[in-house]
Amino acid sequence: MSNPVIFQDNRYITADRAVISPFDPGFMHGDGIFETIRLYQGLPFKLELHRQRLERGLEVLDIPKPEMIDKLADIITHLSSRNHLQNIQGMVRIMISRGQEATGPTVIIQASPLDIKEIRKRQQGMKTIILPWKRDPNNPLLGIKTMNYLENKHGRKLAVRQGADEGIFLNHDGELCEGTFSNLFLVGRDFVVTPPIEAGLLPGITRKTIIECCRRTGVDCREEGVNLNDLSSFRGGFLSSSLMELAPLENLGPRRFNPVDIQDIMQTLLPAYQQQYQSA
Ligand SMILES: Cc1ncc(COP(=O)(O)O)c(C=O)c1O
Repeated sequence: MSNPVIFQDNRYITADRAVISPFDPGFMHGDGIFETIRLYQGLPFKLELHRQRLERGLEVLDIPKPEMIDKLADIITHLSSRNHLQNIQGMVRIMISRGQEATGPTVIIQASPLDIKEIRKRQQGMKTIILPWKRDPNNPLLGIKTMNYLENKHGRKLAVRQGADEGIFLNHDGELCEGTFSNLFLVGRDFVVTPPIEAGLLPGITRKTIIECCRRTGVDCREEGVNLNDLSSFRGGFLSSSLMELAPLENLGPRRFNPVDIQDIMQTLLPAYQQQYQSA
């Protein structure tokens, strides 16, 4: 898709016609928020939860709510049709910056095909590193997706430079938080644990959906702090995000895992997750 149709400030235009002011606070300081949503057969998955997180982000940053938020479903349907995404796997990115005082928030929404090969690779197994700086759980910006994602991008770059796929953050107490673009789950003998929001992490929509899948399928899922030094009781783990769904870990820092060892859990949770968009 060399020149996709995008939505900018209430108009559908080709991407080559998009203009951002150099004085836009989103451009200058990353002052804005974004959401990434997976499209299945052109339909956005868990749109209502993404919309709620978007609105929470606007509230935290004190950015006025743009009117288009109430028309997200229509805009996404239109973009997925204009960009021929109805029969393939796709993704949508919504970006809302504070904009300038005179004009109000700048909104850009883009829809594109998903790199499904890359997703499948991640679903085979992911290598991680533990990032060398700590998260502050009191940071109010951790719970929203601000446009200033440089800390996460930098962490990911560090991981890739060391031959890994994802970097994992710890908080000041040495507890595991999340990855730079994913939430974390650990699998014990007969239970699953995910760090609580208070540890300092983004309340992921996939994380929430997986917790619900656990309840539905009878998997004991706990939201509990886990210290990096306390991994001996876990037989594996997985990462979650809207784009990649569930991806098993090959290691968590120094602790090695074999994805085969959590096959039972993956074979329970993955179909339960996928059933939700297949039956939507
Ligand atoms: C830091 C971080 N944590 C977790 C996630 C997973 O969130 P979700 O499941 O809502 O995609 C993301 C997704 O981009 C992320 O950036």
